Amino acid sequence: MCGIVGYVGPRDSQDILVSGLARLEYRGYDSAGIAVIDDGGSLAVRKRSGKLARLREALETDPIGRGTTGIGHTRWATHGGPTDQNAHPHLADDDRLAVIHNGIIENFASLRSELVGEGITFVSDTDTEVAAHLLARAYRESGDLVAAFRAVVDRLEGAFTLLAAHEDHPGLVVGARRNSPLVIGLGEGETFLGSDVAAFVEHTRRALAVGQDEIVAIRPGVVEVTDFAGNAVEPQPFEVSWDAAAADKGGWSSFMAKEVSEEPEAVANTVRGRIQDGEIRVPELEGLDDFFRGIDRVVVLACGTAYYSGLVGKYALEKWARIPVDVELAHEFRYREPIVSESTLVVSISQSGETMDTLMAVKEAARLGAKTLSICNTQGSTIPRESDAVVYTHAGPEVAVASTKAFVAQITALYLLALHVGRVRRSLPDEVSADATEQLAALPEKIQWILDNEQERTEQLAHWMADTRSVLFLGRHVGYPIALEGALKLKEISYIHAEGFAAGELKHGPIALIEPGQPVFVVVPSPRGSITMHQKVISNIEEIRARGARIIAIAEQGDSAVLPSADEVLRIPLASPLFEPLLAVVPLHIFAMGLATAKGLDVDQPRNLAKSVTVE
Ligand code: M6R
Repeated sequence: MCGIVGYVGPRDSQDILVSGLARLEYRGYDSAGIAVIDDGGSLAVRKRSGKLARLREALETDPIGRGTTGIGHTRWATHGGPTDQNAHPHLADDDRLAVIHNGIIENFASLRSELVGEGITFVSDTDTEVAAHLLARAYRESGDLVAAFRAVVDRLEGAFTLLAAHEDHPGLVVGARRNSPLVIGLGEGETFLGSDVAAFVEHTRRALAVGQDEIVAIRPGVVEVTDFAGNAVEPQPFEVSWDAAAADKGGWSSFMAKEVSEEPEAVANTVRGRIQDGEIRVPELEGLDDFFRGIDRVVVLACGTAYYSGLVGKYALEKWARIPVDVELAHEFRYREPIVSESTLVVSISQSGETMDTLMAVKEAARLGAKTLSICNTQGSTIPRESDAVVYTHAGPEVAVASTKAFVAQITALYLLALHVGRVRRSLPDEVSADATEQLAALPEKIQWILDNEQERTEQLAHWMADTRSVLFLGRHVGYPIALEGALKLKEISYIHAEGFAAGELKHGPIALIEPGQPVFVVVPSPRGSITMHQKVISNIEEIRARGARIIAIAEQGDSAVLPSADEVLRIPLASPLFEPLLAVVPLHIFAMGLATAKGLDVDQPRNLAKSVTVE
C-alpha cells in the first residue's frame, strides 16, 4: 500500500518520479504527490487527491522548474481521508524538508501530542506528518539528514518506509525501512529508490534490496546503507528478471485483461527449468531435502487469493507428499498462539512478497522455530528475505489489483513443491509422478484453449448479467477453493454480492439463499475422476435448480450428464482431477472481468483497494 519513488542523478527528476508513480499506482490511488529540489535550490511540492492524472494536470498548470533530486508518492489512505492536504509529501522545517511514507506509525497520537506541546502546528490528519516534524527537529540539531533518521527511527512504532529530501542537500535522498518495502535501483551516475522495482525498471534492472531496519542514503551513482545503529551494511544485489515492457498494458483494454491472457505463460514459466528427465526437480528446495524427510506437518499462510491457492495446494501436498496440511489466513494465525515446532514447514504464499499480515505471520512462525518457505512472485521483496527458502513463481509483474495469473502460478508452485517433497519422502509412486509431470507440462496449452474458445461466450454471459445483484459459486474438493476465488474476484471488481460455498455445505444453511432466478456457478468435477463426486455435484445442482436457481456449470468437454441440469455450460479441457482447478478458474476470472467491464467499472483499480496490502 502506497507507492514510493526517489531519484538523484543528472536528469530532470520530475518525469522520472511521475512515470515511476504511474507504474506504482496499483499500490494505492487515493492521491499522489512529488517534491523536487529545483535547480534554484528550492523545494517545490505538488500534490493532489484522486488518481495520478490529477497530479499530472496540476503539474501542467503549475509546473515545477528543473530539478535533479526528488521524491514521489501515491497513497492508499490510512490516517486521514484522501484530500489534497493529507496527500504526501508532508513538509516540515519551514517547508524545506519533504517526507513521504508507506506504513502506519502506530504511536503517532502520543508523538503528535508531544510535538503539539512544543508548539508545532499540524496541517494534515496523517501519521506521516509526525515523522516529518520529528525528522526536522533532529535535523536542526545535527544538520545531518542521515543522523536525523537515526535519531528518529527508534521513536516510531509500527511499519514504515520513509523517504526525505531537504533543501539544504540537493543530490541526496535518505530513506529508512521497518516492516515496509524499499529497493534501490542503480543507474549510470543516477540512483533510484522504490517500493518495488517497478518504480525504476524502465531505467535500470540492477537493484539492491534494503534489509529490515536499515537506513539508505542515495546520491548520484552512490549508495550508502547502514543499520539503525549506524553500522555499514552490504545490501544484497539482484537483477530484475523482467523489463519495463512486461509491466506495460500493451494493446490491452486493462492490465487485468492482459494478465488473464498471460495465465498460460505464467504456468509455463513457473514450471520451466523445474522438470529434469521427466521428473520434478526444484533446485531451490534441494537444501531442505533432509528436513522434508522428517517433517510432521505443513502450515500454509496467506491472504486473499493467495490463501485460496493454498487451499488447492493442500489437496496435492496431502495426496502426493502424505503430510498433514493446515491452511491458515495469515492474520488469524499470528494472534492465536499457534502451535508449530522445529519439524513444521511453514509455507507462505504471496504475489507481492510484502503483505504485512503474511510477513508478520512468517516472522512469528520463524520465532517459534518452524522452517519457513516462501512462494512469491516478486524479487527483492521482504517475505522471501525473511524465509529460509523461496520458490519464485515466474508470472511476471502483476499490476491489476485483482490477482489472476499469480493465482495459477501459485498453485503450480505448490504442485511443484508437493511433487518434489513426495519424491524425496518416497511417498509418490513413479507412475503418479510421471502423470502429474505430464499434466503440469500440458496445462498452458489447455488454459490457452479456454481463452481461445470460451472467453467470448463467457464475456457475453457477463454482459447479459450486468444487472445481477448476487451470484453464488459452488464447488467440491479442489473445486471448492475455486468457488471461493470466483466469488472474491466478482466482489472485488464488480461490487456485487458474491459467495462461494462447498457444494456439500449447501443444505446446512446456504440453500436458504436460493430463490427463483438466483445465478449459481457450479464447478463440476470430471466424471472420469471420482464418479461419486461428479454425481453428488449433479445432485447438488438439481437441489438448487428445483428451487429456481439459474445454473452456470463449468464442466469438462464431453461431460453430457451436466447438460439437462444446467442453463449454461462453460467448457474446460480434460485434465486429471487435481489439475482441474487451474482450468476451472479461468472462466471465473474472465466472468468477473467481463461483468465489471459491462458495469463500466475500473477493473484494474477497484474502489477502496490496493494491490499490495502493507498494513495490518
Ligand atoms: O500479494 P499477496 O499475494 O500477498 O496478496 C494477497 C491478497 O491481498 C491478494 O491476493 C488479494 O486478495 C487480491 N486483490 C485478490 O484478487
